[in-house]
Amino acid sequence: MLVYQDLLSGDELLSDSFPYREIENGMLWEVDGKWVVQGAVDVDIGANPSAEGGEDEGVDDQAVKVVDIVDTFRLQEQPPFDKKLFLAQIKKFIKNLSAKLDDEQKEKFRKNIEGATKFLLSKIKELQFFVGESMHDDGCLVFAYYKDGAADPTFLYFALALKEVKC
Ligand SMILES: *[C@@H]1O[C@H](CO)[C@@H](O)[C@H](O)[C@H]1NC(C)=O
Repeated sequence: MLVYQDLLSGDELLSDSFPYREIENGMLWEVDGKWVVQGAVDVDIGANPSAEGGEDEGVDDQAVKVVDIVDTFRLQEQPPFDKKLFLAQIKKFIKNLSAKLDDEQKEKFRKNIEGATKFLLSKIKELQFFVGESMHDDGCLVFAYYKDGAADPTFLYFALALKEVKC
């Protein structure tokens, strides 16, 4: 299994249990989140394969529903960012992250971060903002939004801010 840690904070933000699609020239990863009954995430990891896909059946109304990615990685939701605050945060992030990248990655980041930022800004009113478990001030932001009225959220990660770790 691979886990993806925030290069800046070290927090675990994602794993290969959640497939991703690259968008914005590979700057962002798009990952499908899903509302599930709390605890169902662990079941899906193999404890009880027969429960797979059936998490909505026979569940009583009192069950707590959570978003799988948020629950699994204990992502911490932040108050919404306005455009100004968002840009200030991105500026700090660019500076911090650039210091951790090799030359090739830095070039890729420099060339494409503006496009990715514009993409995120175009959705800023719809976005939810998360950071990793430690809530480090300089940690990488993770975003989620509901695409075209979808029932489940889509997450957006900065690809170059993720460090792949085998475990
Ligand atoms: C981000 O940059 C600031 C200022 O350069 C520095 O003090 C801070 O330690 C950096 N944070 C991380 C997580 O690298």
